[in-house]
Amino acid sequence: MGDERIRTLGDAWQHAIGSVIAAPGTGPPRSTIRGVATTPSYSTTDIRSFFDRSASTGSPERHGHAQRLLEYRLALVRSLAWPRPTDVVLDLGCGNAHHLLALGPELARGIGIDISPGMIELARARVRSLPWRANLTFEVDDAEELKGIADQSIDLAICVGAFEHMLDKRAVLASIYRVLKFGGRFFCLTLHADYVWYRTIAPLLGFATQHLSSDRMLTHDEFIVLLDQAGFRGIRFAPWTFIPKGDVPALIALLLTVLDAIGRLARLDSLRGGLSLCAWKQAKST
Ligand SMILES: C[S@@+](CC[C@H](N)C(=O)[O-])C[C@H]1O[C@@H](n2cnc3c(N)ncnc32)[C@H](O)[C@@H]1O
Repeated sequence: MGDERIRTLGDAWQHAIGSVIAAPGTGPPRSTIRGVATTPSYSTTDIRSFFDRSASTGSPERHGHAQRLLEYRLALVRSLAWPRPTDVVLDLGCGNAHHLLALGPELARGIGIDISPGMIELARARVRSLPWRANLTFEVDDAEELKGIADQSIDLAICVGAFEHMLDKRAVLASIYRVLKFGGRFFCLTLHADYVWYRTIAPLLGFATQHLSSDRMLTHDEFIVLLDQAGFRGIRFAPWTFIPKGDVPALIALLLTVLDAIGRLARLDSLRGGLSLCAWKQAKST
């Protein structure tokens, strides 16, 4: 009876919102009034196909003003991971190279890897027009293996908006640890499993939130355990503002924006959609 009532309330709420906002053809791509359209996914091949399809549309920003969001994310990278001009930086799940293209001039070298050949094509096409392109390379590779990256060759590994899509998170962290130099760091911007939208509101209203059925977010505590088991130390977390605007009707986006502002003021991380972290591979003791 409880479940049934929740579903009925959820349906009524969606119906109300839908009738207010869902003008035909005006919704964000790949979203429905019931949240995102979840694509069934069981393997790396499924994930690759999904992102190859996304690459064929240019993989545009869906959650707000592209340049403002990029600058915000770069500020988070800079404040937590301090990229240096001597750094070799590896971007895991680099997509269309959004972040490496912006960071490139500040680095010694940037390497982008992605499981999707379509994304790597896109990244290479974008970098071809840049004058300082010589220090950036892009390769198809699986973050779980990093076959093309030598041991202890990377100063900073970054992973933005991709970790939640990676299937074997233990394998990804072990690969990152292997390729990092001693004293190197791993920076990750991902979604927060304890976010009130994902944890409570969306299930209550019957909204889908996963783009791929294999997507999996971690809580702060789950992340700490995995990082610790992989050997990382000096782990620092910070919440960040992620509002899944492209995945929900405008009224819900507004509600989530207000909750985020309250969460920021009251330091309530469960009201914030993003989790960022920086973890270190300790320097070798002499
Ligand atoms: C949402 S996109 C984010 C792209 C980019 N980092 C950005 O922020 O614009 C996630 C990316 O992760 C990639 N990806 C998913 N699983 C992967 C894996 N195991 N190894 C490498 N890349 C992966 C996908 O192909 C996709 O390009």
